[in-house]
Amino acid sequence: MNPAIRSVARYAIHKGLEVYGILRGYTGLMEGDFIKLNHRSVSNIVGRGGTILKTARCPEFFKVSGQKKAVEQLKKHLIDALVVIGGDGSFRGAHKLSLHWNIQVVGIPGTIDNDLNGTDYTIGSDTAVNVALDAIDKIRDTATSLERIFIVEVMGRLSGYIALQVGIAGGAEEVIIPEERFNVGNICERIKEGRRKGKYSWIIIVAEGAVNSYDLAKVIKKRTGFDIRVSVLGYVQRGGSPTAFDRVLATSLGPAAVDAVLHGKSDIMMGISNGDIREIPFAIAVRKKAWLDKNLFGLIRILT
Ligand code: F6P
Repeated sequence: MNPAIRSVARYAIHKGLEVYGILRGYTGLMEGDFIKLNHRSVSNIVGRGGTILKTARCPEFFKVSGQKKAVEQLKKHLIDALVVIGGDGSFRGAHKLSLHWNIQVVGIPGTIDNDLNGTDYTIGSDTAVNVALDAIDKIRDTATSLERIFIVEVMGRLSGYIALQVGIAGGAEEVIIPEERFNVGNICERIKEGRRKGKYSWIIIVAEGAVNSYDLAKVIKKRTGFDIRVSVLGYVQRGGSPTAFDRVLATSLGPAAVDAVLHGKSDIMMGISNGDIREIPFAIAVRKKAWLDKNLFGLIRILT
């Protein structure tokens, strides 16, 4: 988020615009919690995790009354256009602002889940993948040394993107994601077969939206009789210094969003597809994304 805030603010100032940061997302928008940003307000944040503007989950914004409050604040502060950095929830709200309240809104995809349609990448997902991968590499040390099976649960809501990326990059034996059916009996058979062949450690990556990791562990232990541990990586994946990839992505999309505003565009997200920056209507961006590379997924089994 921070490299995106920096590039939006500095590029907009360079274009002669006045820039305000809205604190705590839609909550701050409804409350008029705005701060004027200058060139130096965004100094030294390109490598910082989180967001200097803070953020919030804001169910009230999905009600007409919440949107009305936000629109009143925008008018009161003479704000002409909004750049929203966020995921599908943020863009559903942004779509309403544009469609029903005639507010000019352009979005920048920011979510670790990489589940927005029309963009190959969202800001944050590469950082989350690398944080999770670092943890999995370390867990592998215990798995190998103690000859254990590990279930490692990663985030992603209903998207298995992080799980598949770290599964491939971390050499996991199994990856369970919401997008693909799995059969626990088959997994147990593969584990038992592995043991017969002298394979003693096993890493199963589970996407949080696919199955309850603890329930799965109980079933595998019961059916194989082998020792198993669960490690839920959790919120470490949402923190830390952004990777170079995420910083470059954020720094490219920020100015593209400002240019879209200057061209009078609204109700769109700026995404990246095959290396090109594209405009994607919010209504399409929030639809279910078909991202899964089945060939890549199929390799897990072959390479184990
Ligand atoms: O959407 C991003 C995300 O990190 C998901 O991967 C995760 O399920 C969710 O947010 C957690 O959000 P919260 O802390 O609000 O429950």
